[in-house]
Amino acid sequence: MNNKINELLRRVEEFAPQSAAALEEFRVKILGKKGELNALLEEFRSVAPEHKRELGQKINALKTAATERINLFRERFEAAAAPASSAGDMTRTGCAEELGSRHPISVVRNQIVDIFARLGYTVAEGPEIEDDRHVFSALNFPPEHPARDMQDTFFIEKNPDILLRTHTSSIQVRTMERQKPPIRVICPGRVFRNEAISYRAHCIFHQVEGLYIDKGVSFADMKQSILYFAKEMFGEQAVIRMRPSYFPFTEPSAEVDVSCNLCGGKGCNVCKGTGWLEIMGCGMVDPNVLEANGIDHKEYSGFAFGMGVERIAMLKYGVKDLRLYFENDVRFLHQFDSAL
Ligand code: DAH
Repeated sequence: MNNKINELLRRVEEFAPQSAAALEEFRVKILGKKGELNALLEEFRSVAPEHKRELGQKINALKTAATERINLFRERFEAAAAPASSAGDMTRTGCAEELGSRHPISVVRNQIVDIFARLGYTVAEGPEIEDDRHVFSALNFPPEHPARDMQDTFFIEKNPDILLRTHTSSIQVRTMERQKPPIRVICPGRVFRNEAISYRAHCIFHQVEGLYIDKGVSFADMKQSILYFAKEMFGEQAVIRMRPSYFPFTEPSAEVDVSCNLCGGKGCNVCKGTGWLEIMGCGMVDPNVLEANGIDHKEYSGFAFGMGVERIAMLKYGVKDLRLYFENDVRFLHQFDSAL
């Protein structure tokens, strides 16, 4: 019996099947109901009691060895038959991942911020839900100013002191509250106005506000800064002109036009034949605004400017309809991939 066990153990150890079928055949032959191991166990019954312990242990070891060997080959065959995982199969056709891209409004906002960052401006932000003081009164809006009218401003019904900011000039006020001059901030943000939506107006849009306050800041400083911005944004050939205007928070105030980059100033349908495109409002910070925010207007002066991001993007990239920015049609958005 001992010999039979040894012989079977040798066969098990040498067993190396070429196929899953051969493996199964071997398993049945050794471990199956009518297999060789069971035959040995049958024989074991009549073994003399003094040999039972030793032979019993050997048969158990044989059974373990056979099971392990069979399992080892079963795993190998299963692994070979399983399809290679997609990560591991280098021959599979690649599936292209579609990359997103920045929205044109973000692209242009970043361009504006970067240009002023080069002039030493840092970014300041403020809340979209504001109060009357930050949007209007601290900016020298008289109580009866039409911008406070229900038609322009979204007020909170239960508390008309709370409203959605109509311009990013509110961040000027927040900055002056936080910081003593010198102040040099650029303030991007989303603004809200109760406007009918059309190709040139939307109730939600984006602005960038700038504020510079220090000792001896002049109108000439403002003009030079804005000219630098226009050339960086629209190209070295760009020139600007300023037209007198009115804003409650600046005195004097001006409207800035840039030479039309599409026709080079000759006149086309975008600039409506004038050769000029309006890009922002600006002016010297009104002494009333400085005083309302705790800055001595005899010691300090400053300038401010504000522009619409959608408008700058329209002029720079020839976008004709403002609504395109909000529809998020990828055929439109992908055209700005290279502007990143
Ligand atoms: N806040 C103005 C607007 O919403 C834009 C503006 C004009 C901002 C002149 C300024 C400025 O800071 O000086 O139309």
